[in-house]
Amino acid sequence: MNWNEIREKARQNMKGYCRACKRCDGIACAGEVPGMGGTGTGNGFIANIEALDKWKVKLKTLHDVLKPDIDTIFLGHKVNMPIFAAPMTGLKGNAGGYITEREYAMMAAEACKSVGTIYMSGDANDPDMYPAGIDAIKNTKVFGIPFSKPRTVAEIIEKARMAKESGAIAFGIDVDGAGLIMMIRSGQFVGPKSKKEIKKIVNNIELPLILKGIMTPEEAEIAAEAGAKAIVVSNHGGRVLDFTDGTADVLPEIVKAVGDKIEVLVDGGIRSGIDVLKMISLGAKAVLIGRPLLIAAHGGGKEAIEFYLKKVADELYQAMILTGCKNLKNTPEVYRAS
Ligand SMILES: Cc1cc2nc3c(=O)[nH]c(=O)nc-3n(C[C@H](O)[C@H](O)[C@H](O)COP(=O)(O)O)c2cc1C
Repeated sequence: MNWNEIREKARQNMKGYCRACKRCDGIACAGEVPGMGGTGTGNGFIANIEALDKWKVKLKTLHDVLKPDIDTIFLGHKVNMPIFAAPMTGLKGNAGGYITEREYAMMAAEACKSVGTIYMSGDANDPDMYPAGIDAIKNTKVFGIPFSKPRTVAEIIEKARMAKESGAIAFGIDVDGAGLIMMIRSGQFVGPKSKKEIKKIVNNIELPLILKGIMTPEEAEIAAEAGAKAIVVSNHGGRVLDFTDGTADVLPEIVKAVGDKIEVLVDGGIRSGIDVLKMISLGAKAVLIGRPLLIAAHGGGKEAIEFYLKKVADELYQAMILTGCKNLKNTPEVYRAS
């Protein structure tokens, strides 16, 4: 298996919904939502890539780091790599329907289970999307985290109950889905959540709560004060609002505000092991990868998802040797090129 062959097959199977570009950077697919792009001009997706590109690392080889540790602990669970599968739904509208929602959920969950990392599932307007992820978690016994859309508090509590029953290790809400027109048009409530509502959710569910879609230190503080155990610094891959910051630009200030209180994850444009190392050096506990896993699924199923996750993990390992980084608690200093 090699990544170029996987991409080539994915391009054929995704029938124009995704060009499976050499670098998945949001340029060719700008504005394609539904589809695989960023919304509007595509600026939010592209900003993620550009923000990461600005950070540099120093090459160091005169040290004794021979076998770095890339494992980490998230919410008390030990995982083999700090690279998690981001929640993704809407396979038909976004990727052409070659793979069904349930097929993708199973492939991704099985791949994550086999490499020893965390699988996250999503939610959208089709009522079977959330259960597809729940069933994949139940059937594979992966470390799974289902994410609900920011529905009514009662609906969220019910979704968290389903998550608990599936054996999930935590439960999340992608709060940045608060304005999603496709949900509103299909008659389903989504909306912003007050601190009081988040507290109510925390008090009525049995799993640790993760809020995904936090882009400012102020909202990170609200999440922490309301009792969330983790946040994902994310602009939803640039899919919900045009002209947001790139996540690597806002991550350091968010970590400074809440890094000692809750766990901070990040996603957006992470494509390689050095990207992962940069995000962890900027303060993230671990990262989520989105689009490349859908490309992998379309180019070679579960094995290709596994292949991609291992490829990024290997690149991380190599980058740690070449920056003198023994483990993820002692990451190298990153800096912006002048
Ligand atoms: C096709 C597609 C579907 C997505 N569906 C969801 C979803 O259901 N729930 C969610 O929280 N995020 C969803 N996301 C956002 C991802 O979880 C993630 O935040 C983003 O894709 C990360 O950026 P990257 O794709 O550049 O790695 C989706 C993203 C894509 C591309």
